[in-house]
Amino acid sequence: MILSAPEVLVHALKPWAEFYSHSKVAPTVVTFLHVGALILAGGFALSTDRDTFRMVRASDAVRAQHLDDRSGVHAWVVGGLVVSAISGVLLFAADIETFFGSWVFWSKMALIVALLINGYVMMRTERGLHGTPAQAPGWIALRRSAVVSIVLWFTISLAGIILVNM
Ligand code: HEM
Repeated sequence: MILSAPEVLVHALKPWAEFYSHSKVAPTVVTFLHVGALILAGGFALSTDRDTFRMVRASDAVRAQHLDDRSGVHAWVVGGLVVSAISGVLLFAADIETFFGSWVFWSKMALIVALLINGYVMMRTERGLHGTPAQAPGWIALRRSAVVSIVLWFTISLAGIILVNM
């Protein structure tokens, strides 16, 4: 425990924590929303990252199609992350005394910020890629961001599982 939760917060969240700990439905629904949203967002993100690697050997037309596909996927990834963040806050609030003082929890939050920054960098990189060859610096940067994205998705998932078992 590195720091303890402010008393006022513990008090304010007590009704939710009590309800959550005595309910079977609430943990099932909230955990499903958390994991279900991650399957959606992570599934789209990982499959798109994989396609990005395959663009090294693709024709100009296929690379252009990939850029169009990527812009369609962003909304699903962001939507899934929003649901996982809302359900994550509910999970956090259900046991704030455990999570507030956990370095694993705050490391996970820092990794999520890194995932969002990486996603933003990817979107900006994509914008300048139409009509450029596969070896252009932008495509190399996009492949690098795809590696970072995959590593972050798995590391954040691992941090979440450590949280449940600590
Ligand atoms: C603001 C965003 C988020 C918050 C506040 C949050 C918070 C939490 C908390 C408190 C738990 C522990 C639940 C428990 O003990 O029952 C948890 C579990 C978990 N989280 Fe998150 N999380 C967030 C986003 C994410 C993201 C983006 C990922 C994946 C990339 C993720 C993956 C997981 C996993 C795999 C679990 C374990 C689920 C289980 O086995 O029950 N979380 N999260």
